[in-house]
Amino acid sequence: MTAPRARILGLGSYLPPRVVTNHDLTKMMDTSHEWIVERSGVEERRWVDPEEGNHTMGVKAARAAMADAGVEPGEIDCIIYATLSPDYYFPGCGVLVQRDLGLGHIPAYDIRQQCSGFVYGLQMADAFIRAGQYQKILLIGGEVHSRGLDKSTRGRTITVLFGDAAGAAVIGASDDPARGILTSRMHSDGTDAECLAMQYPGMAPNRDVFVNLDDVESGRIFPNMDGQKVFKTAVKRMPQVVQEVLADQGLTVADLAMLIPHQANLRINEMVAKLLHIDESKVHNNIQKYGNTTAATIPLCLEEARALGKIHPGDLVCAVAFGSGFTWGAVLMRW
Ligand code: UT7
Repeated sequence: MTAPRARILGLGSYLPPRVVTNHDLTKMMDTSHEWIVERSGVEERRWVDPEEGNHTMGVKAARAAMADAGVEPGEIDCIIYATLSPDYYFPGCGVLVQRDLGLGHIPAYDIRQQCSGFVYGLQMADAFIRAGQYQKILLIGGEVHSRGLDKSTRGRTITVLFGDAAGAAVIGASDDPARGILTSRMHSDGTDAECLAMQYPGMAPNRDVFVNLDDVESGRIFPNMDGQKVFKTAVKRMPQVVQEVLADQGLTVADLAMLIPHQANLRINEMVAKLLHIDESKVHNNIQKYGNTTAATIPLCLEEARALGKIHPGDLVCAVAFGSGFTWGAVLMRW
């Protein structure tokens, strides 16, 4: 008996209602709408309201994904939660979703992998489904960046890029053997781990305590990024891994109906499209409205592309991501 193919059975997302425009940011730091749009493409992003947290957004996205899939909460037998901005240092967001959705005592995995978190999670879910380990997996990607960013001029290079959101998918066996996840490839290279990182609080060597007052006052608690290195590496790695998954299936870029790239910078995605020789009409971008929502980006984009009629059953769709670690990966699906 051949293993069933895994398929995304439903998608859902949650975007906090509070819109923060580039103009709003100019009131907090020395920046301009023109600089942000020219360098990154971001026009606005969402920030959570005080009563919202990472997992509360994840729960809302999960409910929407289950409704879209026509799956009852009681059918979910595994949770995978991808985030770099969990509500608590520990435990992770997965158990909070288990509790809030009133799910049974099912496993709850929390994974990191930052901007690649959702594609890493898709590969995990695919393997679990094909192995018969679980039947209906809830995969969530959620981020609350706004509480962890330096909103002064010191942090402007990073802060202007990011936004809050959650996205979710229900993954299960496909009833059509032609449809579902065809293949996936994940990679990592820790050589440049500190080039895009949030290193405090942390348990790294030679620290007395995981965070101290000086770390807070000096701003070490905020993320650091070598923007140009990240940019150049993303532009190299994303096309490479798209070609890998296509080659694995004996397919080419010409067979792709839609490329869903991670949304870190519109210029990165334009260069990726150029290098792959794929028409920009086949690349879905929404960074203009939401910024980089990290683990939430891929489900948000998939759902939006589908809603806009850009993805139809039977289409060849590739989701590709690159981020801190560095980690990167691609998932090729027959929708
Ligand atoms: O998923 C991975 C997440 N991250 C990424 O993918 C980020 C990849 N990198 C990038 O997107 C780009 O490198 C950035 C958008 C972050 C920066 O663009 P850049 O063209 O590499 O600019 P830069 O860092 O070289 O800075 C150019 C200038 C600097 O001023 P000087 O030294 O030339 O006087 C910065 O101080 O722009 C200045 N600058 C800003 N000015 C206005 C940096 N941030 C801002 C800002 N507003 N927000």
